[in-house]
Amino acid sequence: MCGIVGAVAGADVVPVLLDGLKRLEYRGYDSAGVAVLMQGEIRRVRKIGRVAEMEQAVKEAGLAGTLGIGHTRWATHGGVTEPNAHPHVSNGQIAVVHNGIIENHDEEREKLKALGYVFESQTDTEVIAHLVHHHYQTSGNLFKAVRLSLIQLRGAYAIAVIAVDQPDRMVCARMGCPLLIGLGEGAHYVASDVSALLSATRRVVYLEEGDIAELTRDHLHIEDQHGRHTRRPLHVSDVSLSSLELGQFRHYMQKEIHEQPKALSDTIDQALEDGLTSTLFGPEAETILRDIEGVQILACGTSYYAGMVARYWLESIAGIPTNVEIASEYRYREVAANPRHLVVTLSQSGETLDTLEALKYAIALGHQATLSICNVRESAIPRASRMVFYTRAGAEIGVASTKAFTTQLVALFMLCVVIAKLRGRIDASKEAAYLDTLRHLPGSVQHALNLEPQICVWAEHFAQKSHALFLGRGVHYPIALEGALKLKEITYIHAEGYPAGELKHGPLALVDADMPVVVIAPNDALLEKVKSNMQEVRARGGELFVFADLDSHFGEQEGVHVIRTPRHVGLLSPVVHAIPVQLLAYNTALKRGTDVDKPRNLAKSVTVE
Ligand code: AGP
Repeated sequence: MCGIVGAVAGADVVPVLLDGLKRLEYRGYDSAGVAVLMQGEIRRVRKIGRVAEMEQAVKEAGLAGTLGIGHTRWATHGGVTEPNAHPHVSNGQIAVVHNGIIENHDEEREKLKALGYVFESQTDTEVIAHLVHHHYQTSGNLFKAVRLSLIQLRGAYAIAVIAVDQPDRMVCARMGCPLLIGLGEGAHYVASDVSALLSATRRVVYLEEGDIAELTRDHLHIEDQHGRHTRRPLHVSDVSLSSLELGQFRHYMQKEIHEQPKALSDTIDQALEDGLTSTLFGPEAETILRDIEGVQILACGTSYYAGMVARYWLESIAGIPTNVEIASEYRYREVAANPRHLVVTLSQSGETLDTLEALKYAIALGHQATLSICNVRESAIPRASRMVFYTRAGAEIGVASTKAFTTQLVALFMLCVVIAKLRGRIDASKEAAYLDTLRHLPGSVQHALNLEPQICVWAEHFAQKSHALFLGRGVHYPIALEGALKLKEITYIHAEGYPAGELKHGPLALVDADMPVVVIAPNDALLEKVKSNMQEVRARGGELFVFADLDSHFGEQEGVHVIRTPRHVGLLSPVVHAIPVQLLAYNTALKRGTDVDKPRNLAKSVTVE
């Protein structure tokens, strides 16, 4: 969603701002802008559309300066228009960029109007700009003006503020949205995401909830929410620039699909080196996991589907009661919590607001055992959790989650085996067998990737359709849901995922020759059941597209197309079956010519509710 970058330096900061905004594009946005202090004025350029268009306008305007802020906006309050794009400026004197949502903006807008402020946009952010201006007029101190303004505001924010008469100063603050400070040589930077700063610095400090920071070229001053001077630890980011670049690929989603064998083996490596032990989840894990009576998984979107797969594993292998819930539902429900249940949050970005808030709610309900499985180091959700497991998928840029999903699955599988061991449910030979399956998994995934030419032929057919159904059973039911989500997300084809046994309770009414039905048909205990469900589809003239394991002996017939996935890999089969549905969505999107990496209306990190 929205992205922030800012800099105060001894040289022109415009190239850093533009480079940073380009690196934030993956988060999803619909307009972009920068404001720079230049010749004693705040000069601003904003454009709807891509950063490249805004960059052109910046060049034409000849913008340059040693203090500046930039923003990519994903519209929430007010439409996608230039006046609504950030930075917002008050009376030519204060400029602000903001991520998040100010809840009491209407109330504050009225008060500011009464003071004579004129609003040019429909955004909540313009309220911040005028409020800071108001307090700056009376206090003459930018830091103080920001603090006084924030006291009046309710909601979530990460902000960066500059003033026309403070050429070497920027003030930043966060509450509910991530913000970090980059430390350079005679320069300081601010960004919502470390990737925005990689070409300038890798040395960063993460602001904590309620922190306000003042940055000059060579000085950084941070105060916590109680106004106490504080220091935050220095981190050196290990995100590689190459992981953020496309290389030989046409799209990030394509790159990320094909990176899965490596992402999986990097994530599994930790277990192959040290065994499937509780230390994978941190030093405290053994004590915590030994005591738990159940598991509550919280997540959104694709991460939620990973949680659904894990429930099958946790209940069958570890014999532990498991509940999985969409975070945005859990956080507003009166939950009958059992504090002895382990709360597992799943999030690629670690920033998803609903998941973060659900975690905070669970903690408030008394849950002390919390584990975050996350792909982004030092992001908000792991920071709020007691135990953390980082998947090693590398940066995921495409809005459609792929390698994060499959690496979450192996992380959850490892968690399940660790809990099963602690509960005495599996012996050493079983553990060795699971390790062996994990070891061979990247190879099976590579085999599934090699099916792409056959999947491309199907994609031609799907590209002409308006609807599709995905069916699966048991542990593969969530893969049907994931296949449907991938297809709708990037091709805009309406798709639904169903447990195949549920078909005759309603969705069968939709089946006709125009409704392609994708079936996930692994060679497991439910295969014969799935075959019966397929008959129900064929009998109504529906066309079947079946992903069947090599050893499941499926034959092609009229109206039944089959692609053979690798030999059944046992319990980890959902990881392998995730690959063909990703490839089907990607190749169908290519044929339809949609914006694969930045599908309409969506954002990579969903930092608002
Ligand atoms: C998946 O393709 C999506 N773009 C989306 O559902 C995503 O998985 C969801 O927003 C959760 O994100 P997170 O894993 O970063 O928390």
